Amino acid sequence: MSELKNNIDLTKLPNHIAIIMDGNGRWAKEKGHDRLYGHYHGVESVRNILEGCAELNIPYLTLYAFSTENWDRPKDEVDGLMELLVDTIRKEVITLNKNSIKLHVIGDMHTLPPFARKELEEALLETSHNEKFNLILALSYSSRWELLNAVKNIAVDVKEGKLSTENIDQDTLQKYLATSEFPDPDLLIRTSGEYRISNFLLYQLAYAELYFTSTRWPDFRKENLFEAILDFQRRRRRFGRTDEQITHRPEQLFQS
Ligand code: FPP
Repeated sequence: MSELKNNIDLTKLPNHIAIIMDGNGRWAKEKGHDRLYGHYHGVESVRNILEGCAELNIPYLTLYAFSTENWDRPKDEVDGLMELLVDTIRKEVITLNKNSIKLHVIGDMHTLPPFARKELEEALLETSHNEKFNLILALSYSSRWELLNAVKNIAVDVKEGKLSTENIDQDTLQKYLATSEFPDPDLLIRTSGEYRISNFLLYQLAYAELYFTSTRWPDFRKENLFEAILDFQRRRRRFGRTDEQITHRPEQLFQS
């Protein structure tokens, strides 16, 4: 077992880790290759990090695989990324099932090319019985899209009398988000030295700890994940309260 992993406190693990996998393009360029070469190597990091989460029994992992804005990239890159995603998912379904990992997709599935949608829907169905871990892929996702969608659906339900305006609270809004089934992330990791959230889980990250590393995504491995978790464990999560409240009544933090 690695030194870093040994130092992790297994009683204080994040329950949900979200990752902005950044730097594939730059990694490839630095090596004199085209951007797709970086994305191909990024898949190896996805496998390795998923394995790391499974080793630590972290039940939720969300990966920002393709944003709404990514559609504006050159056509070759978009087509290549779609093929890579579909190909990877097709190949990995067996491994996902072997490790009881349930696949989820958040994002505007309607904008995906039909072949990608079909393949994803099959993988969602084939892994739907898994209960131990959850791999959530944000695909054609952006928070502004998600929030707009939630507002529209709430408005429709109010209009149809299924919901009354007075009863709309945070729990209601939560139910209309693409992430309604999942707890909020505790830890957000962004690779490759950018300090931005980039339209990712804006509502859900309200109390997440943010971790930024200069490591490019294709170089990011379990050891880097363990470092991020150790850093997370050194933070004092106050959820808007005072230090004294946390020291004396830490259990209050988890009561709603
Ligand atoms: C960001 O790097 C990366 C992406 C937009 C795509 C990430 C996708 C993968 C790693 C494939 C994932 C596969 C599965 C199955 C989840 P960038 O292109 O923005 O890099 P740059 O900032 O250096 O240009």
